[in-house]
Amino acid sequence: MGRYSSQLAAQMADLAGIERGQHVIDVGCGPGALATELVQRVGAEAVAAVDPSESFAEAVALRCPGVDVRLASAEDLPFAMDTFDAALAQLVVHFMDDPVRGLGEMARVTRTNGVVAACVWDNAGERTPLAPFWRAARELDPQVEDGSGYAGGREGHLRELFTEAGLREIEDTSLPVHVQHASFEEWWEPFTLGVGPAGVYLAGLERERQEQLRELCREQLPAPFTLETRAWAARGIV
Ligand SMILES: C[S@@+](CC[C@H](N)C(=O)[O-])C[C@H]1O[C@@H](n2cnc3c(N)ncnc32)[C@H](O)[C@@H]1O
Repeated sequence: MGRYSSQLAAQMADLAGIERGQHVIDVGCGPGALATELVQRVGAEAVAAVDPSESFAEAVALRCPGVDVRLASAEDLPFAMDTFDAALAQLVVHFMDDPVRGLGEMARVTRTNGVVAACVWDNAGERTPLAPFWRAARELDPQVEDGSGYAGGREGHLRELFTEAGLREIEDTSLPVHVQHASFEEWWEPFTLGVGPAGVYLAGLERERQEQLRELCREQLPAPFTLETRAWAARGIV
């Protein structure tokens, strides 16, 4: 899924107007696609990154030497007020226990007139890299929790959350990401790692059910195929 994240990262950094001279934070950095983009733009010493997952924080510390990496969640950022010029969260708002509090914390650590930006896949519109997986899962189990109600994952919802978090001059948009897959297996393999909601869901199924799900996905994706996805995104001023 790294190819999706890195295409998104460049667009997120553009949306937030990231440029040399700024001090910035990547909230929910995961394996570091956005942190890497930020380092290219402002230099490692001007980037901080947090994630509540120890393995992701360790991975980013290795991938981006010099970045101030900390184990923390958005709702409780270990930084003083006005520390950053911009705070960004890529594909994280829907994982926050309290998205308004998380965005509010991002605003707290950002200086007045600085920028907070976030994006979430268009889950409601099924324009995500995982959409074929959840379509197949729903065919087998119509009750499955498929992410379509995720915070920020429908048009206009990030704007609502940003407003509740006290941000102003909010702009929202959608960011297109198109990725070509040479084979079905290349797209399927990440699900087998047991990571994220889809990976955890797959790991919890009986083997026969896993195979049914994989074959239903395969039918939707004759190789080679291009997934045309998009994320809802918003930026606001502190
Ligand atoms: C889909 S990944 C996105 C990672 C990265 N931002 C990217 O675009 O590749 C979601 C990340 O959010 C992190 N996360 C989950 N809950 C969080 C929270 N409350 N605050 C900050 N990050 C959180 C997860 O550990 C995971 O690394």
